[in-house]
Amino acid sequence: MEPTFDELLNKGDAIFKDKSVLSPHYVPETLLHREAELRKIMSCLAPALQGKKPSNTLIYGKTGSGKSICAKRVLQKLYDQKEASVSGVYLNCRVYDSRYKIVQKVVSDFDADVAKTGHSFSVLYEKVIDKLETESKHLVLVLDEIDVVKDLDTLVYTLTRANDDLKAGSISMVGISNKVTFKQKLDARSRSSLCEEEIVFPPYNALQLEAILSQRVPLAFRDNVLEQSGLNIAAAIAAGESGDARYALTLLLKAGELALSRGMKKVSDKEVEAARVAADEDKARELISSLPEHLQLVLYSLAVVSQDVQYKRLVEDDDGQKLFFSGEVYDRYSAMCKKMGKEPRSARWYREYLHELETLGLLISVHSGKGIRGQATLIKPVYPADKIRKVIEENLK
Ligand SMILES: Nc1ncnc2c1ncn2[C@@H]1O[C@H](COP(=O)(O)OP(=O)(O)OP(=O)(O)O)[C@@H](O)[C@H]1O
Ligand SMILES: [Mg+2]
Repeated sequence: MEPTFDELLNKGDAIFKDKSVLSPHYVPETLLHREAELRKIMSCLAPALQGKKPSNTLIYGKTGSGKSICAKRVLQKLYDQKEASVSGVYLNCRVYDSRYKIVQKVVSDFDADVAKTGHSFSVLYEKVIDKLETESKHLVLVLDEIDVVKDLDTLVYTLTRANDDLKAGSISMVGISNKVTFKQKLDARSRSSLCEEEIVFPPYNALQLEAILSQRVPLAFRDNVLEQSGLNIAAAIAAGESGDARYALTLLLKAGELALSRGMKKVSDKEVEAARVAADEDKARELISSLPEHLQLVLYSLAVVSQDVQYKRLVEDDDGQKLFFSGEVYDRYSAMCKKMGKEPRSARWYREYLHELETLGLLISVHSGKGIRGQATLIKPVYPADKIRKVIEENLK
């Protein structure tokens, strides 16, 4: 069939009214089950509206717990107050990942022309100080995914110290992270500066996720297309996966797309379950692609061995799935490295690699009881071997 502009403009189809409502960029009118968290962030920032410096705040919680969307909503509310002496800047630190880039972005928000030319850091810093001081402005910097900032200690130190340089106005930071351990990487002084207040976002439970999904379903799907049980299952699966609202929304989107591609009129539990498998494979693909080369080669060797029809020494686990001798996978790995003109890593390294792959959820290992060649380690891949091979072959081309 020839393409139409309607379909390109996302005008809907037999399943979806508007699937962009399920995308991570869509912002719903009300944020459900986050009143307490919104209030906490707002009370941290409220002093700015009374001409006082807000405390620095660290927000953390697992992925998909609504940190970014809540922080943006609070900035919007702050902006809606139309208080000229308060400005909020939202920065995604994946894009602005250094002190220089962050300060440059702040300057460019104040004055688009200045920042384009390559000023030194101190010139940019002085510009920020000047601007805040002359306008007695309170600047709130929301630093999302703050853990990726390369010179974070220096950044925190600089922005904290800026308040000593300022005769009027202030700078405060709201850092956001989903890495539990990131605070430990900061030096003691910047840790205590950044974490004057801490707000933890708990994961959503299944009921809360149901509400978040239900809010979008009438806008995203055609009437009566998504079965209630499908929605409940998506919420339950995502609640089990650390309460991630993004994942719950992705499941509905994928389930709908699957139903559409199969020419179905309804989205049922089956499509949601299949969407889970597809979403897990997407995640695995991303994970595998990001592995260092030798980890990929080890996993690849396991996939090859597990598809080997010649492989006779059958051992099965409790679920009747085949397990493979780790020593034989090592031999295959070594042979493959040599064929590729690479030096294989030692057996000791190889055991480390197996451990790492297991921690990442990409393979399962069991120790055989006595009897099978003394004490052997048996392994099997978690994902289908052909899919693993395809991803790695594309990567190592
Ligand atoms: N309370 C909510 N109501 C409606 N939608 C929500 C809510 N919380 C999260 N979402 C949706 O879930 C998705 C993930 O939320 P968000 O981006 O805020 O997560 P996050 O905590 O910042 O995750 P990460 O740590 O991965 O950055 C977004 O698409 C958002 O629209
Ligand atoms: Mg986020």
